[in-house]
Amino acid sequence: MQIISAIDTLRSTLKNRGRIAFVPTMGNLHEGHISLMRQAREHGDSVVASIFVNRLQFGPSEDFDKYPRTFQADCDQLSAAGVDILFAPTESDLYPEPQQYLVDPPEIQNWLEGEFRPGHFRGVATVVLKLFNCVQPQAALFGKKDYQQLMVLRNMTRQLALPIDIIGGETVRAEDGLALSSRNGYLSPSERAEAPRLYRELCRLRDAVAAGDRDFRKLEQSAVSALDTHGWKTDYIAVRRQSDLMPPSSNQEALVVLAASRLGSTRLIDNMEL
Ligand code: PAJ
Repeated sequence: MQIISAIDTLRSTLKNRGRIAFVPTMGNLHEGHISLMRQAREHGDSVVASIFVNRLQFGPSEDFDKYPRTFQADCDQLSAAGVDILFAPTESDLYPEPQQYLVDPPEIQNWLEGEFRPGHFRGVATVVLKLFNCVQPQAALFGKKDYQQLMVLRNMTRQLALPIDIIGGETVRAEDGLALSSRNGYLSPSERAEAPRLYRELCRLRDAVAAGDRDFRKLEQSAVSALDTHGWKTDYIAVRRQSDLMPPSSNQEALVVLAASRLGSTRLIDNMEL
């Protein structure tokens, strides 16, 4: 696996590499990331991954400084997964001057995650467009774990007519159901034991909807209460339409439940298609 940090070196290396499948990450890789690397093989002749902890998508009181950075272990995992090229720019490679031209997503950036993380999706969209410009992939893979992010990036790609297929990968979970996340490393042993409750509540809500319950307000509230009782602080649990993340309006729509809740100082997100 070749490791490249400069944009011009990346560009010259990627010439004549055939169809490129790209998986952007912020590192501290786990099986969720690696499953995207494996799927990327099916979508390109060359697989390019990136590792870049993107300051622009972190709020002022968020965990940019303490975000786990495990570069050597990440490289070992990427090599083992058959990734051809790792683009690992430094901040001065990617942001040599203050990034003043930004991608400003529409209203969706203010809902759900966006309500609790103002500016987050602007930072994500901006860095992903810039990474797309560096790598110029034909396909890019993102996890459904970050459901709203996947939607923002899919819509950006379509509206800006980028010639890139956006592919969503299923959420990879631990055996007890907890969605794998770099932030799980912040959990204490007792919090880690409690953490799968979020997944279990989403399953419970999914099963109730499958059994015909359409009182989404009550179902959402019941999941919030169950988490509250065990010391969680919930930002949202919301049933939305898969197509645009708006509240459901008819019986015909495919739905998804999205959730964000804090256990101690760790904020976990998860979702489930219904
Ligand atoms: P990061 O959190 O490192 O995630 C990189 C990719 O891995 C994202 O597409 C995310 O949805 C996916 N992923 C994370 N956990 C997963 C899991 N348990 N199962 C399946 N996929 C999973 O998301 C980001 O980085 C950044 O916002 C980024 C897109 C790289 C822009 O900076």
